[in-house]
Amino acid sequence: MRNARINPSILSADFANLASELDRIHTADAVHVDVMDNHFVPNLTLGLPVVDALQKVSKLPIDVHLMIEDADRWAPEYAQLGVDSVTFHAEAASAPIRLARELRSAGTKAAMALRPATPIEPYIDMLDELDMVLLMTVEPGFGGQKFLDLVLPKIRRARAAIEGSGKPIALQVDGGISRDTIARAAEAGADVFVAGSAVYSAPEPSVEVDVLRNLALGGH
Ligand code: DX5
Ligand code: ZN
Repeated sequence: MRNARINPSILSADFANLASELDRIHTADAVHVDVMDNHFVPNLTLGLPVVDALQKVSKLPIDVHLMIEDADRWAPEYAQLGVDSVTFHAEAASAPIRLARELRSAGTKAAMALRPATPIEPYIDMLDELDMVLLMTVEPGFGGQKFLDLVLPKIRRARAAIEGSGKPIALQVDGGISRDTIARAAEAGADVFVAGSAVYSAPEPSVEVDVLRNLALGGH
């Protein structure tokens, strides 16, 4: 029995009304919050004060995706806010094992993200340190980009490595997930799906979450 969690990204929400935008996705499993610093990616979004405010009002668990440089310095501060998970980029962490341990000891789930061209193989021996792996299916930085099918083989290899570890490590995909692409990502082995534009451009975002989850589970 496959598992499928849908984490809408508020990057595509109305930033002037974040609290009510959370209500529009009440069927979701968590809310995905994209933090960008205009250095690791060429875009700037929000930081600690906004994540802190969201954490205080959100009924959904918060899944923080840090697209920032110097993750070693900043990721633990997000963990201290009490969010459900903190994802740092492998390309932005100088000591990913130490950082993952710090996140877990702060009481949050530790997750590591890879850009589309970053291989999974160098990280297979540290999977046990992680609660989730995020494979980007677009170059990080913006919502609304096209899903990169070239990541599918890496999703399969990551799924095989996770099965080999015997640990309940989640495999998240982020970027270009929609009704057209989610089944491919699920079939390759992903079980947590971030969707920004597909959810928030739908007339009823909460219904779209259920549609996407059903497609990921093999429905029509
Ligand atoms: C992109 C962000 C994504 C983005 C996804 O760098 O990490 O979370 O919001 O947006 P869509 O689903 O529109 O590709
Ligand atoms: Zn993201």
